[in-house]
Amino acid sequence: MNLCVIGTGYVGLVTGVCLADMGNDVICIDNNETKIDKLNKDIMPIYEPGLKELVIKNKKQKQLRFSKSIADGVKHADVIFISVDTPPRPNGEADLRSVANVCREIALYMDRYKVVVDKSTVPVETGEKVAETIRRYNKRNIDFDVVSNPEFLREGSAVHDTMHPDRIVIGTNSPRAVNIMEELYRPLKAPVIVTDIKSAEIIKHASNSFLAMKISYVNALSIICERAGADVTKVAAGMGWDKRIGKTFLNAGIGYGGACFPKDVKAFIKIAEKLNCGFELLEAVEEINDRQWRHFLKKIEETLWVIHDKTIGVLGVSFKPNTDDIRSAPSINIIKALLAEGARIRAYDPQAMEKAKEILPEVVFCPDPYAAAEGADALIILTEWDEFRNLDLKKVSKLLTHPIILDGRNIFDPAEMEALGFIYKSMGR
Ligand code: UGA
Repeated sequence: MNLCVIGTGYVGLVTGVCLADMGNDVICIDNNETKIDKLNKDIMPIYEPGLKELVIKNKKQKQLRFSKSIADGVKHADVIFISVDTPPRPNGEADLRSVANVCREIALYMDRYKVVVDKSTVPVETGEKVAETIRRYNKRNIDFDVVSNPEFLREGSAVHDTMHPDRIVIGTNSPRAVNIMEELYRPLKAPVIVTDIKSAEIIKHASNSFLAMKISYVNALSIICERAGADVTKVAAGMGWDKRIGKTFLNAGIGYGGACFPKDVKAFIKIAEKLNCGFELLEAVEEINDRQWRHFLKKIEETLWVIHDKTIGVLGVSFKPNTDDIRSAPSINIIKALLAEGARIRAYDPQAMEKAKEILPEVVFCPDPYAAAEGADALIILTEWDEFRNLDLKKVSKLLTHPIILDGRNIFDPAEMEALGFIYKSMGR
């Protein structure tokens, strides 16, 4: 099928590349010229395992092109994916300017029947507005259908998630569009849920908010476990065996971050508010998430007493492992708070240091975890990269001025750490 994907962020780029790899002829569009120039030179704008290889392969096979021209993309495609950014406005609502602009351009260049697919995370009722806008700006009255097809890929495993989705949601009232979308996704052999547009739109916000709620639930539990002298990892494991609860997304820590959960929970609260329903449960989810990194900060302060003039080694800056993304990462809040108290920070992250340098100029970034530990009064773990699980802890202990590790992600066993002579504090244990 001839496709175009407008917007080459995480979702758009990975979707476009994977659809090309499934045998389609794809043009990926972005109005950011630098990004397109880089992609044309095989330079990826993001770190994502497996992505670069797929880009190179599909470009070579002439199934994938990058362009700045929406006109090219729209004329080429039978199915047009909108995957532009929907950043939060100051009040928490999603800013839909990019979606609206793209709709007007699609309308302008549409030359035959098109399926217009919304992949961006948008508030319910956006599909109606998309259809209305295209109808208004397309003066030639060309037929089209709008589909809401939310994306569930995770950063760090985006290619894998796109190729092996748990489900595909197709929201539209057009049987013609359903057929086209089902044909497009058939190679993935995933369960397909066909629904109306509004339900599809809500599925996305409801899913992300539910997952965020799971994290805040286990984080609230972690404080109870700490006070009671229990171990939250054992409590979560005991709960997880119940299939209705499930084992995943029950890792306590310094809270969720990234470009999705913080923004989407806020946006869902706003959506509910506009529909005259309070979503107090989600307000609590946000509150608990914010409390969590502050709780970890307090642990550092209690352990080191005066932070001023202390050197703190930091392992991990990205909001989670296997990504270089630091957007809304709780690590940033913690590092900034420590800097404000007068600490010196020596940090290491396997992928996120380039991005972190831009917003944390005071931090000394180190070439490896051992260099971050060298001469530090304590080492703090803010992201659970596998590399940190395999550290030579005896070496770390010798490098630190004091053998203190504060672990915000529970990657080590407390008893083993004590046996190694560390003062070791983690979350909820
Ligand atoms: C999330 C969803 O998982 C995807 O399904 C969705 O498509 C995506 O948002 C999106 O809307 O685009 P992502 O933000 O990449 O994906 O990251 P997750 O793996 O979901 O992790 C989010 C945050 O939760 C991270 O900061 C992570 O450290 C934290 N987390 C996750 C925990 O603190 N504990 C857990 O048990 C799991």
